[in-house]
Amino acid sequence: MTDFSRNEIIEILKDDSKNEWLFSLADKIRKEYKGDEVHLRGLIEFSNICKCRCKYCGLRSENKNIQRYRITDITESAKNAVRLGYKTIVLQSGEDGFYTKEIMCEIIKELKKLDIALTLSIGERSFEDLKAFRESGADRYLIRIETTDRKLYEKMHPRMDFDNRMRCLKDLKKLGYEVGTGCLVGLPEQSIDSLADDIMFFKEINADMVGIGPFIAHPQTPLKDEPNGNFTLALKVMALTRILLKDINIPATTAMETLNPNGRIIALQSGANVVMPNVTPLEYRKKYEIYPNKICLNEEPEHCRKCIENKINSIGRTVSKNYGFRKN
Ligand code: 5AD
Ligand code: FES
Repeated sequence: MTDFSRNEIIEILKDDSKNEWLFSLADKIRKEYKGDEVHLRGLIEFSNICKCRCKYCGLRSENKNIQRYRITDITESAKNAVRLGYKTIVLQSGEDGFYTKEIMCEIIKELKKLDIALTLSIGERSFEDLKAFRESGADRYLIRIETTDRKLYEKMHPRMDFDNRMRCLKDLKKLGYEVGTGCLVGLPEQSIDSLADDIMFFKEINADMVGIGPFIAHPQTPLKDEPNGNFTLALKVMALTRILLKDINIPATTAMETLNPNGRIIALQSGANVVMPNVTPLEYRKKYEIYPNKICLNEEPEHCRKCIENKINSIGRTVSKNYGFRKN
């Protein structure tokens, strides 16, 4: 069984001469443990209102240059996703205080009437809230640690608490969610060693899903003049994650495709087995600008659904008809 130590991971991350070997090893392990089916998750970005000030994120509360919205008819978007064949819906938003425990539970119960697995990606919440969401039917929860380097975390996230984020991840595990986490690659001052720590952390908490994306500088944030993350380095972190956590779900992230026009397919051939196409209605989609040049800003959900299936088929893979839990 292939496994790497922290030192080996650092060595691999620093050395680009063996990249092809790394990517094909990750692809082989993906095939062995997850097969050739790709799971699609329909992403609904239902509110871009956020109380946080993450230095890299375009939705940060101090960005007064975006029009804020809440989608009132989430169910309509979800039904559209179901009609298009999605078996998982991901509800994502900023940290929007409007969505109290009670309101969220109503939404969850409503969506769980549909034949879908439901993932939440709505930020840090109390144990009590997370418990109520789970009891209302939420199956999975995404909350990236972003970076395990505590100092860097604190720099990137003013007024946020690293320990609270960790607490959320632990609570989610306790509550029986499938837990998704992940990191950004290419944050200012982020070291290779800390990326190795990120990978070791995913293994340590036994994450069920890990999403890895390159940092992309947003013009309306304090990091506007910083260089973008490196596509290949992000791909390497992803491939190493597959090699260490063999049977988990790993998305080919949208941010990868923003930096490379074939990014998602390359990721699917380097360890990924999931894609999360956007099913947010077009009028809102442009306003959910976490980072600039997001893909599919003018494509209807129908279009993306066909587009991605064609791409997946073109590399000899198929779209799964199952819910796509870690363990089926
Ligand atoms: N570039 C790339 N990814 C970003 N995210 C937020 N801002 C950016 C950015 N500028 C990612 C974070 C978050 C996810 C929803 O989007 O990792 O967890
Ligand atoms: Fe949206 Fe290809 S997935 S256009």
